[in-house]
Amino acid sequence: MKLQAMLKVLFATVSLGSLMLVGCTPTQQASSPQQGEASPSTVEVQQRTTPTTQPTQRTPDVVYVPTPPEVVDRMLTIAKVGKNDVLYDLGSGDGRIPIAALQKYKVKKAVGIDIDPQRIQEANANAEKAGLTGKVQFLQQDLFTSDFSDATVITLYLLPELNLKLRPKLLKLPPGTRIVSHAFDMGDWKADKVEQVDGRTVYFWTVPKQIPANLQKSTPSS
Ligand SMILES: C[S@@+](CC[C@H](N)C(=O)[O-])C[C@H]1O[C@@H](n2cnc3c(N)ncnc32)[C@H](O)[C@@H]1O
Repeated sequence: MKLQAMLKVLFATVSLGSLMLVGCTPTQQASSPQQGEASPSTVEVQQRTTPTTQPTQRTPDVVYVPTPPEVVDRMLTIAKVGKNDVLYDLGSGDGRIPIAALQKYKVKKAVGIDIDPQRIQEANANAEKAGLTGKVQFLQQDLFTSDFSDATVITLYLLPELNLKLRPKLLKLPPGTRIVSHAFDMGDWKADKVEQVDGRTVYFWTVPKQIPANLQKSTPSS
């Protein structure tokens, strides 16, 4: 009887110890965030405090095709880009236009906007190679909703219908803002200059002081 009682006490002690181990250690490990993984509370804070910096996630309106370097050069010379300029490339691909604008034309600010995270990664890698990290900015945003109101020069290589969709926003920029487009025009907003480079067309416009009546419609015609 005495031995039986002692065995009961021993069994009860061992079981309680195991339960305590199961109850604490493994569960805590399973619910801890892995390295680099945000805990739910961090995610919640990020969502609450930084809604405007969330990158845009949707299919690009046009696929990536790079502008050849000699065309990039002509786009920047036709717009007389220089040290007082703030340049935005809307749909910036691998970042070659903002990078050239800083490296060769010494603009005071160069920004590339692209909706595709892969392009933003490539552009940042190219900026690093060029020693321009922190000087050129690449933002993963939708060019139709992004803020480029401080631009003095806008560069584009999109599609005719995208140029037309963007046109009302471009015409709201301060008079004198220069716009250059590789390959595609702006419908009935006739270019101030048109040049050919290696079989490609470069169009150049300046935002006018008075917007002509035919350009004031919100849905432009081609
Ligand atoms: C034809 S590439 C031009 C790349 C670069 N500007 C150049 O000339 O070499 C067009 C770029 O626009 C980007 N894009 C498409 N739709 C966009 C949108 N709604 N907002 C921002 N970028 C967009 C694509 O991801 C692509 O990189």
